[in-house]
Amino acid sequence: MGALTKLRVNGAVRETDAPEGTSLLEVLRNDLDLTGTKYGGGEGMCGACTVLLDGVAVRSCITPISAVGDGAVETIEGCEIDNHLSVVQQAFADQGAMQCGYCVPGMVMSATALLRKNPKATDKEIIEHMDGNVCRCCGYPQMLKAIKSALGAGQ
Ligand code: FES
Ligand code: FES
Repeated sequence: MGALTKLRVNGAVRETDAPEGTSLLEVLRNDLDLTGTKYGGGEGMCGACTVLLDGVAVRSCITPISAVGDGAVETIEGCEIDNHLSVVQQAFADQGAMQCGYCVPGMVMSATALLRKNPKATDKEIIEHMDGNVCRCCGYPQMLKAIKSALGAGQ
């Protein structure tokens, strides 16, 4: 058993005894039972594992827990407030912006970061921001509609 690392996840302090080089994704899924964040290759290329670290979208598969420090981690499980979906989650649901759904948690987290940083993002800016999030079902048109509608609704 290694030394304990404390992480701030979805507003709570959580602990893990995983070695410090362990990826944030592994700790979230295996130690903290936060399995909404997905593994899609583990090389930072698909965006399925996207979470927010201090409000910035990061690939948790290539982020070791040693790099997290006391940063605030937000995962898809932290999006709901008082049993209400976030604006972005609701927009994805309303627009039917999911097929198998595997990529959606990462998409939602990336879009959430955009909504906070640039709530007036143009289509081009949305597409550029979301470029690293891959959907194997090619649901991009509905996702773009969902993100535009979320931007219109504000957060
Ligand atoms: S699993 Fe992290 S980017 Fe694909
Ligand atoms: S909805 Fe299936 S991978 Fe995106």
